[in-house]
Amino acid sequence: MTLIDTARTVRENAYAPYSKFKVGAAVQAVSGAIYSGCNVENVAYPEGTCAEAGAIAAMIAGGDTEIAAIAVIADSPQPISPCGGCRQKIAEFARGDVVVTLATIDGTVLHTSVATLLPGGFDADYMSRV
Ligand code: THU
Repeated sequence: MTLIDTARTVRENAYAPYSKFKVGAAVQAVSGAIYSGCNVENVAYPEGTCAEAGAIAAMIAGGDTEIAAIAVIADSPQPISPCGGCRQKIAEFARGDVVVTLATIDGTVLHTSVATLLPGGFDADYMSRV
């Protein structure tokens, strides 16, 4: 099963009654373990969480802290573009050269990287005087 297949499968479990937009994400840690997550919306809209956040939370709960690869899938006209917050969340646990695979459920796939998705991102270096 590829990382996209894992993301495709978990997407079916997304809880998205408000947007109707289901998203699935799968992360492979450097250990080889694979973790998945889906978006979980809430009637108090800002309390909803993205698929990527769920996959990352599962990875941390599973004892891994470094992402080797990540895939995200949705029923979108073009491969889904992770939101800004998720780009920052991914960058917390992935090197810039880590491949991010973005896909549609009908088979279009785009490969990009963490650094491409988040140029000039905030990182711990900015806090070096603290
Ligand atoms: N969503 C994700 O899960 N990941 C993204 O990168 C973009 C957006 C979810 C949040 C919300 O539940 C729905 O898609 C519509 O914004």
